[in-house]
Amino acid sequence: AALWIIVPAAGIGARMQSQLPKQYLPLAGKTVLEQTMWVLLQAHHLKSVVVALHPDDQHFQNLDVAQDPRIQIVVGGAERADSVLNALLVIQEQAAADDWVLVHDAARPCLQLTLLNQFIDSLFAGSQGGILAAPVADTLKRVGAQHEILATQDRTGLWAAQTPQMFTLAQLLPALQQALAVGRQITDEASAIEAAGHALKVVPGPSDNLKITRPEDLPLAELILRAQRG
Ligand code: C5P
Repeated sequence: AALWIIVPAAGIGARMQSQLPKQYLPLAGKTVLEQTMWVLLQAHHLKSVVVALHPDDQHFQNLDVAQDPRIQIVVGGAERADSVLNALLVIQEQAAADDWVLVHDAARPCLQLTLLNQFIDSLFAGSQGGILAAPVADTLKRVGAQHEILATQDRTGLWAAQTPQMFTLAQLLPALQQALAVGRQITDEASAIEAAGHALKVVPGPSDNLKITRPEDLPLAELILRAQRG
């Protein structure tokens, strides 16, 4: 079996308050997306990385990494799940059914290479997919439209899903198509797999695998990367 990696990078990063989409903001001497790609291109069993880009993307072609022959480009969709589906359809034409597909957010550049490969190795020999996740640290409030507290959630057993998430192509493609067909809100691939009734493993993830979402996340990611890489 081989590993195919999908990088959804077609978002506009509305919460980032920046003209430039967040995956192209500078981070530790490169762009966010290049930092992410640098890690992913060293994954065990890697066949190809399929990057989903916005139809109007003007930036990817200018990155050094764009020349890497293991990278393929697809046009992303309206929602993250649509972007992942477009990539899956391209992979389906080239892959075997028992091949693995790993999805990792363009906006998670602080994933450590050793952790990525431990995650891949822990799933690759089996048949069950899995995700990186971490127990939530904060107390969770349900909050109304006027910023009023409606309820406090019991956080026992609650984990925050991260990426990477890894599944067999044979499970992920039909599960995602089905979830999109019934109009399910999909913010991660695992939820589609769960809805299809497949069991999934959780691999404990670190709290420094942050998703760059708001402006203040960028200097934090810079500190994390510099500490990791010395
Ligand atoms: O917006 P959010 O932070 O959840 O986006 C997660 C990832 O999904 C980002 O890397 C973003 O570029 C990508 N995305 C996408 N297609 C969309 C929306 C988001 O590939 N339509």
